[in-house]
Amino acid sequence: MEKCLAPSILAADFGILKEQLELIDEAGAQYVHFDVMDGVFVPSISFGLPVLKSIRKYTDRLIDVHLMIVDPERYVKDFAEAGADIITVHAEACKHLDATIEMIKKCGTMVGVALNPSTPVGSIAHVLDKVDMVLIMTVNPGFGGQKLIDYTLDKVRELSEIVATKKLKLDIEVDGGINRDTIEKVLDAGANIIVAGSAVFKGDVKENTKNLLEKMR
Ligand code: DX5
Ligand code: ZN
Repeated sequence: MEKCLAPSILAADFGILKEQLELIDEAGAQYVHFDVMDGVFVPSISFGLPVLKSIRKYTDRLIDVHLMIVDPERYVKDFAEAGADIITVHAEACKHLDATIEMIKKCGTMVGVALNPSTPVGSIAHVLDKVDMVLIMTVNPGFGGQKLIDYTLDKVRELSEIVATKKLKLDIEVDGGINRDTIEKVLDAGANIIVAGSAVFKGDVKENTKNLLEKMR
């Protein structure tokens, strides 16, 4: 599967969001990762529908919406209408994951399922052929700037073996603690969609993006 960089705008300067989007775009990042937090599923509250609607006007890149909210089926249609290209829900946050996946598909966006570090890959075995992407969280969700938890790489390896054996057409995304020093090990483990927040937006955004993309070649 194609390797793509998904800068997480959670770490961006919101006062100049449009300019920040232009920088990652010009540097060649393929996705925009959009972290929605509800203060219940995770401790923090981030941003939601109005912000998505605004940024949709300023980028043609794939907007990858990561819903860290309980019972996400309540908002799936709204996020699709606001401009999401991919909607990812947490397996732990859905009472009826299969039904939520079907609901996202009906909205016409791509569908992703996310797993917290402690949630086993086997818990989503039966829905793997229904989704476009699996997001293996490499930190506990809720905050940017955390350190990658090494055992999550075993899960990435486990999933990429399943994908190869079953010949699934599935992207493997990783999110949390990915930077210049850790990107190589997530790629080696088999991830192909790489989320990076602090590593992109702290410092020179364009340079950071280019450096990470360079490491992905
Ligand atoms: C964390 C979010 C991440 C976050 C990553 O819960 O899902 O997308 O922005 O930030 P870094 O790359 O700084 O770990
Ligand atoms: Zn995220």
